[in-house]
Parts: sequence; structure tokens; C-alpha cells
Amino acid sequence: MAHSTKTHLVCMTVPFQGHINSMLNLAKVLHFKGFFITFVNTEYAHQQLLKHDGSLSALDGLPDFRFASISDGLSPPDDNDEYAEDMRKIILAAQMNCPASFLSLISALNDPSSGVPPVRCVISDCFARFTLSATTKLGIPNVFYSTVAVCGFTVFYYFKDLIERGLVPLKSEDDLTNGCLDTIIDWMPGMETVRMKDLSSFIRTTDRDELLLNFVMDGAHASHQATAIIFNTFSELESPLLRACSSMLPPVFDIGPMCLLSHYIPNDSSTSSLGGLNMWREDLRCMEWLDEKESGSVLYVNFGSLANLTSKQAVEFGWGLAKSGCTFLWVIRPDLVVGDAALLPQEFSEMTKGRSFITSWCPQQRVLAHAAIGGFLTHCGWNSTTESICSGVPMICWPFFGDQQINCRYICSVWGIGMKIDEDVTREEVERLIKELIEGQKGKEMKRKAVEWKEKAIEAAKPGGGSWRNLEKLIEEIITKE
Ligand code: UDX
Repeated sequence: MAHSTKTHLVCMTVPFQGHINSMLNLAKVLHFKGFFITFVNTEYAHQQLLKHDGSLSALDGLPDFRFASISDGLSPPDDNDEYAEDMRKIILAAQMNCPASFLSLISALNDPSSGVPPVRCVISDCFARFTLSATTKLGIPNVFYSTVAVCGFTVFYYFKDLIERGLVPLKSEDDLTNGCLDTIIDWMPGMETVRMKDLSSFIRTTDRDELLLNFVMDGAHASHQATAIIFNTFSELESPLLRACSSMLPPVFDIGPMCLLSHYIPNDSSTSSLGGLNMWREDLRCMEWLDEKESGSVLYVNFGSLANLTSKQAVEFGWGLAKSGCTFLWVIRPDLVVGDAALLPQEFSEMTKGRSFITSWCPQQRVLAHAAIGGFLTHCGWNSTTESICSGVPMICWPFFGDQQINCRYICSVWGIGMKIDEDVTREEVERLIKELIEGQKGKEMKRKAVEWKEKAIEAAKPGGGSWRNLEKLIEEIITKE
């Protein structure tokens, strides 16, 4: 077989569902632009994907597109339906083992006997900063990809200043309730005026060594060592923040929303059949169920891939949905609820009979694009947020952790397309906000704005739009520059 002569890019993701899909979309777009792609997972995630998603094995061997995995030292996921991600364990294992295994992979790919072109450039999720040691050693460019919004990235970056100003870690547990989290933060460049509690769950700690806080802060700061940074956003959505980042970081390119860019890859391209990769088995029956529902009548409820609910919270959401009278599609991952799994009584099933569909994983982008969907009750993960924007769907927000608090703040107060549920969720509030979203004046206004944002997203992501132009600039000025 003739060897490819294309320029070879290695895309390194981190082992979490949202990050994998986002990087996969970028990889498909780069493949469409004529590159040879090696898409790399850590071994643990690779095994989980192989278990639940045939596409990974079926599509390995596409022309000029390959999957690879690197050792993270973890034993394979249990052979049951729960991925039960332990983020801390996965992050620690990657930090410890992946610098060496990534270097070995690149060295192997660069060996003339490998049958693939030498690696020209690495594209790393910015939370896979372990790639930097290999790219520095081998003298190849390393372009970071921020799978979080610019607002999320900015918060993570300025954790350092919060620490230096003595605001984080919190002095004691009392600071969680005594108004400390209402402190105004108005000094982050490009950022709206926000309160501490809008920033991130990761600062709600009394421990300076908190792993997740340091993980995301170090990822954001490592961007200074990257050759360039791609943000999965578009300029109209976050322009003050993009300007601020551009003035302090290596060259910044807003190339998004990536879920929409990948949508414009023509059908005759070999990766067009490659949808997302799933850690859980997709239930496609919900699409037929949606086909029977009236336009804009269904609330879609999904808390993403990492969030966990206590059984009390799940019960409050359940009763809120039941009492609202709305028709809903609720995705309950096998590991969503911690604690007592038998959460919803028979009465709940009776009350929601004929107007509910409950499943454990669905094709989310297709669901959000379905005409029957009128609103999204979401945890505000960045992918869910952009996918909702791209479908013009307004949101009810219940952020769980990480970047989701600041995404929620921007969704509700800056973009005007969401309403927040209090952290201490009650069935009454869930019921009230659902009714407001589906029938109320505020819901109509949010829908109007959501459609406006959808149109702006399409302007950026359609062929010839701002995001494609930025991609071409990145290719010319960074990736293929002699
Ligand atoms: C976390 C962070 O909060 C997020 O901001 C970061 O960028 C990725 O990691 P996560 O819980 O994975 O988020 O949520 P999200 O970013 O929304 O990604 C979930 C992805 O899984 C989306 O692309 C969504 O379409 C997909 N999904 C989710 C499905 O395909 N089916 C489902 O049933 C649920």
C-alpha cells in the first residue's frame, strides 16, 4: 500500500466524554482540510469506547485517519454498564504515566518503519499538558485546544490571582455560607462583573492542594508554552474575553462552535459517517418518540457525562418534572445518581405516563436539533451549551462543577438564553421554571434570543465564515509554516 504523503497531525485528548467529542470534531475538520490524523486516547478511555461504540473499531483504518492509545497505567474499566469515572484517579494516572507513553508514541510514529508520515504538529487538549515534554524534546509545535469556553478558561487562568489575593482557598467551611462567595470579582480582563460563586465549584475548597483546582489552573497556564491556542467558540459570543486572551497568550484562534463546523464537512468526505464516540450505549428509540411530538413541546433533560446527583436532588428534579405537566426526555446515566438508585416511586411513572421518555444515553446533538425540543435542562457543560446554542434551544441551568458555573452565568446574564435553578434544587422551583420556559413570556424572549445566537453561530461556522477563515490562518501561519 502506498504511504500517505499528507502532513501528519496528532490529536491528543483527555479521557472524558465531552473532551473526546470536541477533539474528534476538530480532528475531522482538520482531516477534511487535507491532513493525516492520528487521534489519541488514553488506554482506559479507549477500552471504554471500544466496549460501547462500534465506530471506534469500525472506523479505524479510514483513509489517513487512525486511532491510537497511550498507556495511563490504569486497569481497564469494569465489565459492567457503569463507567463510574473517578476523575481524580484518572487525572493522577495520566499525569504520572502519559508524559513517557506519549513520547514513546510520537517516537514510534516518527520511525521510518511506521508507514505513516512523520509527525508535523501535535494538537493537545489544554488539559493534556503532559504532551509538552515530548514536543519540547522533539522540537515540534504543540497547538493547545481549549475544550472549555473562553470564559471558563479565563476563570481557570485567574485562579492563580485569586490565590495570591488570599481569596482562595477559603479560610473555613463557614465561608461557603457567610456571604464570602458573594464577593464581587471585577478585575479579570474581558470578564463581566461576577461574584465568586459564579466562577467555579473548584474554588469552594479550604485546601490549597486541591487536585482539580490545580489541574485546570496549571492547564490554563501551560498555554504560555503552546505554539498557539484554539478556542471552541466564535468571536461574537465572547469577543471581550478573546481580545483579553489574545493580548497575553501565544496566538489565539477562535474556531467554533466545533460541533457546527464538523457538521459542514461534505458527505463525500470519509469521516462524515463518523459521528461522536460514546462511553455509553446510545438509545436511538428516543428519536422515533420525538417524531410523534409537537414542535417545541418537549423539555430535554441531561446532566452530561460527569455530573452526579444525590438521590434527594434526583427526586426533586423528578417531582418538578412530574408536577410541571410538561412532556420530557430525561437521560439518566447509569452512574448519574449517587446513593439509593431506586429513586422515583410508582406514582411518578403514573403521573408522567405518555409524556415521558427515560433512557441512559442518547444522540444529544440530534435530539437538540429535533423540532420537538422546546428547552434544555442542562448542567451547562461547554459542549452541551454550544450544541444548544447551535440548535437555538433556550436552557434551564443547573451547573454542577468546573467551568459550568461561569458558563451558566454567561448563558443567563450575558447571552440571555437561560434561567438558573438554585444549587439547593427544589421541586417547586423546577416546576416554576419549566412552566416559564415552555409557556411564559420570559421563555418566549429566551427562545427569540437563542434563535438569534444560532444564526450568529451559523454565520461563523458555515463555509467561508469567520471560524473557517481562522482555521485557514492557523494552518498557514502555524501548522504548515516552514
Ligand atoms: C465537562 C465540562 O463541564 C465541559 O465544559 C468540558 O468542556 C467537558 O467536560 P461534560 O459533563 O462531559 O462536561 O458535558 P459536556 O461538555 O456538555 O459534554 C457532553 C457531551 O456528551 C456532549 O457533546 C453531548 O452531546 C454528549 N452526550 C451527552 C451525548 O451524546 N449523549 C448524552 O446522552 C449525553
